[in-house]
Amino acid sequence: MILKLTRAEIAAVDSVIRSRRTIHEFTPEVPAPETVREAIEQARWAPNHHHTEPWRFYLISPDCGARIAELNAELVRQKSGDQAAASKLQRWRAMPGWLAVTCATSEDANREREDYAACCCAIQNLMLTLWARGIGMKWGTGKVTRDPRFMTLIGASPSEFTVGLFWYGYAGAAGKGPRVITMWWSTARSIATRAGFIRRPRMQRRISRAMSRSGAGLK
Ligand SMILES: Cc1cc2nc3c(=O)[nH]c(=O)nc-3n(C[C@H](O)[C@H](O)[C@H](O)COP(=O)(O)O)c2cc1C
Repeated sequence: MILKLTRAEIAAVDSVIRSRRTIHEFTPEVPAPETVREAIEQARWAPNHHHTEPWRFYLISPDCGARIAELNAELVRQKSGDQAAASKLQRWRAMPGWLAVTCATSEDANREREDYAACCCAIQNLMLTLWARGIGMKWGTGKVTRDPRFMTLIGASPSEFTVGLFWYGYAGAAGKGPRVITMWWSTARSIATRAGFIRRPRMQRRISRAMSRSGAGLK
């Protein structure tokens, strides 16, 4: 079944996708767990080759979040000293909502690669679902997420690897503005040329003129 959306619905979908930004500063308010569960349910609709459903979602309690913050501070201390560790600990302790996503490992390297891709699709679904409900996220892949103690803390099995540690909540400080996409047109053009879709220089010139009229192109 092909979806038939109204123009307003299409505009709403476009706006959710385009307006989403990583949130770095949150208010202390923790979003309702039902909303996060709704987003996880949406995440599961992501494409996944052979329907392997490789994702594992871990809703992290405040207590577990605090222990992850301490483990992270320990790693920061080893690398950058006490002051940096104390500052990270303070920042991490203030994060409202915590969530981790892991992916099942596989003996088949290609399957694991495809499973990781599927997990990233699921995460985008999750982020957009929350964003549409006024909730922002930050995706983290720092050293702590690769520490075996992190896996133990969240209760993940050794047959999984972390795709991301996420903070979620309501945006605190004024967020970033819309994103500037720098490569879109040039990529589209080179792919089209390489694939032989646009062979004639006249056609290419016409496209370039249209792009400069619309203000698109390399920024
Ligand atoms: C796979 C992946 C890993 C990321 N890891 C980190 C991270 O460790 N720390 C961080 O600050 N941001 C991380 N991010 C967030 C990106 O930096 C962010 O999405 C990017 O700057 C684009 O900004 P936007 O999300 O506002 O469009 C990660 C994003 C992805 C997709």
